[in-house]
Amino acid sequence: MKLDTVIAERKNKVIYREDNLVAKVFDESFPKSDILNEALNQARVEETGLNIPKIEEVTKINGKWALISTYIEGKTLAQLMDENPDKIDEYLNMFVDIQINILSKTAPLLNKLKDKMKRKICSTNLDAATKYELHTRLNGMPKHTKVCHGDFNPSNVIITPDGTPYVIDWSHATQGNGSADAARTYLLFRLNKQDEIAEKYINLFSEKTDTSRQYINEWLPIVAASQSVKDKPEEREFLLSWVNICEYQ
Ligand SMILES: Nc1ncnc2c1ncn2[C@@H]1O[C@H](COP(=O)(O)OP(=O)(O)OP(=O)(O)O)[C@@H](O)[C@H]1O
Ligand SMILES: [Mg+2]
Repeated sequence: MKLDTVIAERKNKVIYREDNLVAKVFDESFPKSDILNEALNQARVEETGLNIPKIEEVTKINGKWALISTYIEGKTLAQLMDENPDKIDEYLNMFVDIQINILSKTAPLLNKLKDKMKRKICSTNLDAATKYELHTRLNGMPKHTKVCHGDFNPSNVIITPDGTPYVIDWSHATQGNGSADAARTYLLFRLNKQDEIAEKYINLFSEKTDTSRQYINEWLPIVAASQSVKDKPEEREFLLSWVNICEYQ
């Protein structure tokens, strides 16, 4: 595959396009096990019948690991929201329906959300008392087996020219509780400083799934703690304030 056309650039990866394929090419710093896990997640989620790009090849290009998938033509919901701010309600409605459709699927071999959260809590640099609180909270949450995207945000949804939505980027996918996935999406909007959209989103999700805000909120300290493992200095204070909410409940 020729690496002439860059379609997106991230800190430690570049996404290229050639004809009907994309190559996600990872830096040497990226753990091989994470890359192979992403490919396996994508293959497992393909089997649910959801509209997602097909993984075509796992390979090395110029010494770097690369995942080759089908190219999905269209614009991401993030682009569409930027271009048509007046249509934000319509797009959010679509966004929540897509997430609910994902959550309606099962994939029994995907990693388990609770296991992943437990590992993340262990690897935070929070104090022992806070970690204990978080582990206790996590243990008390109901165990579900829904497909959870794990990074469901508008930049990971592509709308094709005929209006069909495709969901990309399955690196964080697990099976578990849908409210944890919604709490993560809410947090991602807040981290992106889209507070108004975050509120609209969470209200829509709770309305459409008949889930209480309080129940979704129960997951916030856990997902905030897991997000803090990424160690982005600009997010740290904000995430810690969410983690510490649990001390007062
Ligand atoms: N199969 C695809 N078809 C079309 N565009 C794609 C495809 N895969 C990725 N892209 C484009 O590349 C961008 C980044 O890809 P992806 O989300 O997989 O990487 P990422 O590193 O997880 O990025 P982010 O941090 O934004 O989530 C997407 O927002 C999209 O614009
Ligand atoms: Mg992405």
